[in-house]
Order: sequence, then C-alpha cells, then structure tokens
Amino acid sequence: MELRWNKVTSYLQQLANGNTEPLSTYVYDLEALRLHATHIVRSLPPSYELFYAIKANSDLPILETLAPIVHGFEVSSGGELSWVRQHFPDQDVIFSGPGKTDGELLLAVRSNTGAIHVESIGELQRLGQIAIRENRVVAILLRINLQLQNLSSTTLMMGGGPTPFGIAADQLPNCIEWLCAHPELNMQGFHLHLLSHQLNAAAHLEILEAYLLQARQWAREYNIEIDHINVGGGIGINYREPDKQFDWELFGSGLMRLAHLYADGPRVRFECGRYITAACGYYAMQVIDIKQAFGKTYLVARGGTHQFRTPYAQGHSHPFRIMPIEQWPYPFARPQIESQPVTIVGQLCTPKDVLAYDAEVECVRSNDLVVFPFAGAYAWHISHHDFLRHPHPEHHYLLAEA
Ligand SMILES: Cc1ncc(COP(=O)(O)O)c(C=O)c1O
Repeated sequence: MELRWNKVTSYLQQLANGNTEPLSTYVYDLEALRLHATHIVRSLPPSYELFYAIKANSDLPILETLAPIVHGFEVSSGGELSWVRQHFPDQDVIFSGPGKTDGELLLAVRSNTGAIHVESIGELQRLGQIAIRENRVVAILLRINLQLQNLSSTTLMMGGGPTPFGIAADQLPNCIEWLCAHPELNMQGFHLHLLSHQLNAAAHLEILEAYLLQARQWAREYNIEIDHINVGGGIGINYREPDKQFDWELFGSGLMRLAHLYADGPRVRFECGRYITAACGYYAMQVIDIKQAFGKTYLVARGGTHQFRTPYAQGHSHPFRIMPIEQWPYPFARPQIESQPVTIVGQLCTPKDVLAYDAEVECVRSNDLVVFPFAGAYAWHISHHDFLRHPHPEHHYLLAEA
C-alpha cells in the first residue's frame, strides 16, 4: 500500500496554479489502487476470493479499475445494485445489508445476484415469497451474529453482542428448520462480519480461524453442505499512526496456513471496502485564513467535513502534509506561521468542522495546500455534501498505467 506523494503533489500543483478560487479537491491514484488490489488478490490462497464492498467508494473509475482484479462486488442497497448492473452487467455481485425492502429483494432476484445475504428470519420469509412468485431458486447465505470467546474488539463492532446486524446465533436452528421446508431458497453458507477497523493481523487471523471452526461445527450439527463462508471485510486503516498499518504480509502467510489446515473446508470469501480504496484517495484544501484565538492557531481551509467526513466520523485527527503553493495574488504580506500546532477547520458554521487538531507543522502560509491521504474510502461518499450549499470539490482520477 504505497502512497505516491510525488505524483499526487505534482498533479495538485498544476491544479492550484490554474485556479483563481481556493481549491478543494479529491485526487485518486488509480495506478496505486490497481497495484494494491492486485497484490492483495495475488497473496490469497487459491480457494479464497476478494469481493469489493462498493459502499466504501462507488465512483465509476474506481470500480472500473477494480472490476478486472477482484472476484466481484458486494452491494448493500438497491441503488448500489442498479449502479453495478448498469455498468458491469456480467460482474459477480453479492447483496448484503440490513433492512432490505421487497423491492430491493426482487431487484436482486432479477439481477443475476450471486448470493443474497439474509439478515433476519423476517427477511428469509419475505425472500421465500418472492422466490416462489418468480419461480426461481435463490442462493442465500445466512448472516450470523455470534459471540466468540476472546473476540478482540475494535472501534466499530458489528456483532459479537447485541447489534441490529445479522441473525443472532441462537436463532439459527429455527432458520435451518424453516429452510428445510422451503427449497425455493438454497442456503450456500454463512456470512460473518463482526467488526470493522481491524488493525491487528494476528487477531484477525484468530477470528477467521474461529469462523472456520464454527462453520465446520454447524455443518456437522445441522448436516448441511457449505459451499463458502463470507468472512466480511473489516480490515482497517491506521489513521492515528499512519506508519503502523495492518500487516498484510503476515496476514497473507497466515491465510496460507489456514487454507492448508482447513483444506477440506468451504471456500472463503472476503468483502473488503476500506482497506482496498482508502490509500488511493487524497483530499486537498487550500488555506484561506490563518487565525489565532486564545492561544490556539486555526487554519481555515476551502471545503470541510461536509466533503471529507472521515475524521469526524471516526473521531480522529487526520494525518496531512502541507504543500507549498508559491502563488500569492495580494499586495500585502502573506500570513505565515512556523513550528507550532495547528487545528485545521473547514468553512462550515459549526465548531465540529475539524479535520485535524493540535497538529505540529513546520511552516504553513495562506494559500498553501493541506493534503490529507487515506481519503479514498468512506470519505466523499459518507459526507453531507449540500450542507451550506458550498460548491462540491473537484474529483480527479489519475489514470492507471496498464
Ligand atoms: C456486511 C459488511 N461487509 C463488508 C463491509 C465493508 O467493511 P470494511 O470497509 O471495513 O472492509 C461492511 C461495512 O460496513 C459491512 O457492513
């Protein structure tokens, strides 16, 4: 997962030179994305697959870059499903997510969806009705929320205790009994996504091993055949300590060990979002004002959390670099500060519009650019774009080279 700063900053330099208004923009390095995704897929054992959870970033150039590399796309709404089918009619697609409506389930059944991940007994029953009406056998996985012993927690837990996601494990016998009487649904396995933001590769391997053991036990207990288990996504990005990222090399070799140990087991499928696209994206804001207030220094920059909500959503101070821009179009002295902590805010009329706080900078001047890396996942797509009706940022995609 390499950040190609030189390439991105020289592109940003050109953009800033040509601009009369202060800049706010996303830049996506598609070549870095291609290399990163290819590396991930190549390090998987043969019976393991990588799907991309498009909720992290569903921009077309991102999907076009990933489509030939990953095994398929995971969608979590009718809107995402229609988007994928409109542009990738032949791509493998799986459909998960809570609260699926009948309309969305029908769309999934008619859209050649590989598997629908069912989240509740009610959803199972509604999907059964649709399958009968459509005269089809529909492939499903059951998403199970289970308690694992010694489950190490992260800042974003989706299961392992009370949550609205999946079917609580104690309801599994009812589901299996129901499925035995309803051949219109073909259960192919289990879907397990208990957490996101996992930064610890060894801990994640332990969770995967627990999933594999659990699936084996369920297969014996209920006398069912399991085609594959979907182990979710959840591999995190370390925004707080960007030099200490998830150890993919350790993880890859651990997967080889698991594949060997459980060679008689089902296929394993990942559906990762953040870990695939976060590092290819950068969000850049040009400094409009530098202000001091009661001992603190603020950089007020073009854009804000309505364009890049990731730091606010995750409660962290986002890493950044200052990129000098030589243009200074005014006849008066350029405001500048050196060697002091700054808090970086946007243009919103709320004290919550903070992207980084008390972060040490060597030198920054008005009109310089603040560039935030790791802005390619859950960034623009989770932001409240139209708050205050500021213009949207630009979006630039640096082309993949092969
Ligand atoms: C069911 C499911 N699968 C996959 C993902 C993708 O997770 P991540 O982006 O952490 O890899 C999510 C995220 O919310 C999810 O809920």
